[in-house]
Amino acid sequence: MAKRNKFYITTPIFYINARPHIGSAYTVFAADILARFHRMKGEEVYFLTGTDENSVKNVAAAKESGKDVKDYLDEMAAIWQETWDSLGISNDDFIRTTERRHIEAVFNFFKEVKKKGDIYEGIYEGYYCDGCEAFLSKEDLVDGKCPNHKRKPQYLREKNLFFKLTKYRDKLLKHIEKNPDFIQPSSRRNEVVSYIKDFMTDFSISRERAEWGIPVPTSKNVMLNSFRRPNQFLKQVQDDKTNRVLYVWFDALINYISAVGYGTDEKKFKKWWPVDLHLVGKDIIKFHCAYWPAMLMSAGLPLPKKIFAHGFFTVEGQKMSKSLGNVIDPIEISRKYGIDALRYFLIREIKFGEDGDFSLRRLEEVYNSELANELGNLVNRVLAMTDRYFKSKVPSVVISSRARNLAGAKRLAQLVRNYEKAMEELGLHDAVESVLALVRSCNQLIDKEKPWELAKKDVKRLANVIYYLLDSLRILSWLLWPIMPETAEKIWEQLGILKSERKRKWEVAIKFGGLKRGTKIKKGEPLFPKI
Ligand code: MSP
Repeated sequence: MAKRNKFYITTPIFYINARPHIGSAYTVFAADILARFHRMKGEEVYFLTGTDENSVKNVAAAKESGKDVKDYLDEMAAIWQETWDSLGISNDDFIRTTERRHIEAVFNFFKEVKKKGDIYEGIYEGYYCDGCEAFLSKEDLVDGKCPNHKRKPQYLREKNLFFKLTKYRDKLLKHIEKNPDFIQPSSRRNEVVSYIKDFMTDFSISRERAEWGIPVPTSKNVMLNSFRRPNQFLKQVQDDKTNRVLYVWFDALINYISAVGYGTDEKKFKKWWPVDLHLVGKDIIKFHCAYWPAMLMSAGLPLPKKIFAHGFFTVEGQKMSKSLGNVIDPIEISRKYGIDALRYFLIREIKFGEDGDFSLRRLEEVYNSELANELGNLVNRVLAMTDRYFKSKVPSVVISSRARNLAGAKRLAQLVRNYEKAMEELGLHDAVESVLALVRSCNQLIDKEKPWELAKKDVKRLANVIYYLLDSLRILSWLLWPIMPETAEKIWEQLGILKSERKRKWEVAIKFGGLKRGTKIKKGEPLFPKI
């Protein structure tokens, strides 16, 4: 298995013209699970998320609410940050593209790309969809409308700056071919390759007459060091004659390096770049797998190690949208079912990388069957039996090397290996499967051994069975922690695992026999009360 000592992971940065919904939470939960898994393995992790603020969508939303743009952005960015906090997301940084560190990085990046001769003036004539924040070709339209937003795009003709994306066509294709892991899953890689080969054109990196955004760096505004006062600087665009700002995607992609110090903190940048994993939705692979790598090549920077695109999900079979009124608030759901149940459900229900559907009926089904009946019940049964037969203490069994090699222990080790492999390969749903398999094998063992009968005839065997179950719960809690951190912590409490023991090295934690004999357990409330 890949041995690393640090791991840098990102989510896309989100437009903040509305509050976070379950779709945005999906990406962030997945990134959180991976960040926690790598931390648990002892790696130093940098988990980045943030907000994409220089978009016309945000400006329109600010106007609609009658607020000053900057005030609106500050309010919304705070809402996004609070949402992730209250959902227990463990991000190490939160970048806003209106921050000085970002604007400074964008200026530096632009300078490098320009020096390379990769920026030229041209005329952009064509369609632009504000919803996608993307230039569209006639072929992209369906009945004259943007297929994603079902709206007529604007027709633009403006003098723009262009980035020489096509100059990097061959280099990009070679890189993708040489590094099969670079774009995952492979179906997305094929899509990207076909785009690069057959459709890719240079893209415009500036917009005229914009009301908001990072001004195209000129010798005048760079010399004035305007970025030292970002608020004032961004607002200045509104008064500037040309009102020429950078295209929001050119600005936004740079967040991945500005957050780790590009152009402002070289030491930090060297430590973290290149990123280990950009996690994105399948809707934005063109930007991440073609634009961004080419931009990095132009600026002379190393490329991301991996870009993984997950699928999209519908809600009760329909696309989630404001107009349909089916937008789901992750906070509301987690209040009713718990954050962990929501995390578990999203990852378990949708094969990571593929599309899926979210429905409350399914959530309740999975909650009652897998979480309440199988996992919750298992923990409850094992602790109740420890209470009853061993006065709430972990039985003092001798774990011989023979016991470690018994089928049960071997099976445990195999499940742990499957889980680890699945996490490393981003098969998050498979990792959940391994957890579930462990739960099921413990429940089956109880049914087979019938501890209540052993209590009458073979106390030694009973002690071994209960110890095996308790230690399986301990190992299970480690596997659960990235996916359901609150539940894992509750299990630790109930098993009497001290805070200091929770920091155990992964290799040690997952070995059978780690639970101290004689530890006092504390049976608690059911983990998942039935709905
Ligand atoms: N701001 C750009 C990203 C810039 S990254 C340099 C953007 N923002 S977004 O807010 O519109 O969407 C961000 C991400 O949210 C999507 O890529 C996707 O990961 C996630 N999702 C939004 N709706 C979703 C679903 N219905 N299902 C799954 N993921 C969804 O694009």
